[in-house]
Amino acid sequence: MDILLGQVLRFTADPFTAGPDAMQVDEALAIHEGKIIAVGAADALRAAYPAARTRDYGAQVISAGFIDAHVHYPQTAIIASWGKRLIDWLNTYTFPEEMRFNDPAYAQMIAARYFDLALAHGTTTMCSFATIHPASVDAFFAQAQARGMRALTGKTCMDRNAPDGLRDTAQSAYDDSKALIARWHGVDRLGYVITPRFSPTSTPDQLSALGALWGEHPDCLMQTHLSEQTDEIEWVRGLFPTARDYLDTYEMHGLLGPNALYGHAIHLEARERDRILETGAAMVHCPTSNTFIGSGLMDLAALKAKGHRIGLATDTGGGSSFSMLRTMAAAYEIGQLKGRPLHPAELWWLATQGSAQALNLGDKIGNIEVGMEADLVIIDLKSTPAIAQRNAQAGDIFEAIFPTIMMGDDRAITDVWINGKNRTAP
Ligand code: GUN
Ligand code: ZN
Repeated sequence: MDILLGQVLRFTADPFTAGPDAMQVDEALAIHEGKIIAVGAADALRAAYPAARTRDYGAQVISAGFIDAHVHYPQTAIIASWGKRLIDWLNTYTFPEEMRFNDPAYAQMIAARYFDLALAHGTTTMCSFATIHPASVDAFFAQAQARGMRALTGKTCMDRNAPDGLRDTAQSAYDDSKALIARWHGVDRLGYVITPRFSPTSTPDQLSALGALWGEHPDCLMQTHLSEQTDEIEWVRGLFPTARDYLDTYEMHGLLGPNALYGHAIHLEARERDRILETGAAMVHCPTSNTFIGSGLMDLAALKAKGHRIGLATDTGGGSSFSMLRTMAAAYEIGQLKGRPLHPAELWWLATQGSAQALNLGDKIGNIEVGMEADLVIIDLKSTPAIAQRNAQAGDIFEAIFPTIMMGDDRAITDVWINGKNRTAP
């Protein structure tokens, strides 16, 4: 049993609806057998659990670990590749790199590198795309399992508009994905995600096959991309002449429902927004990617006000950072450009409980609450001289965390706990 002391930052509700006071600061929490068993005053917890080991983090923040709701671990090595928009970026940088995952040893090496980077940045759960190679899924899950993490991925299916060596078929996508579900879904804290890359790289037959597979495994998440760039949307219109809109290319093939996750979802039409809300599907905001690849500005606050479920994500390597702090900063900047500055409580919620809810895991991870899994990040609010001098002027917790949100990176992450076990961040 462990007691952790610090500024325990947690949420009693969604600050987008309940206001900033939904973020609360406590003094201590207690962990037993991987779970949070108590939160409250330090003296009360010490009295209740006198035999517990105590770890005092002083003025550092103790938060639920960050949750990256949409990432491409195979793109780790091509992050920050210059000068292309989406389709050219895929063809120039992404597909050649993903081809290298044909070699399982390369997949293992990049998966290990990715998990080390994610943990160093305080990310304790992620929902990743893999490549078309089943071994890329095995590599990811093996690394997550070795670290005891809750993690999700799926084989990224493509049977057209992708180069030789990076295409499967409708049947093999179905068969391989089904075998991977049997091998990994629900093992330890791992979850399989049915993953058509996006409509331009799947034939209607492949989308139907994956829709059928999802029908057989409705407890799996289904992730893909939606309405990221305007020329992509035009392309989809040409490829699916009978579809009402981009979302319909998924909907007509059984790929819309409460366990669906749509990355980007920037340039949506009214029907698409309405159907996503009606069916309870989630969107994922990828702000560093949306600026880096030049995709556009999602109006997150307006969507949240309508009741949409939205997670936050790096979208690495289309995104330009592994850091969910940097990702919060980019979400803030896009909010400013849309005329609605997101509050620090809202930003922190998006990176933790908001992403957890997008993954339909909000009852297990993404907050500090009795009964939840103890995946925690410890954050130094004075990690650089520039941040420290601004933090010294802070009048409340929101002002105290905002400089770290805007200027922080992996230097702010001093420790990580996974499933109740301490793992000093590499
Ligand atoms: N759309 C289809 N594939 C991708 C990808 O790998 N990254 C991004 N950002 N968008 C995509
Ligand atoms: Zn993506």
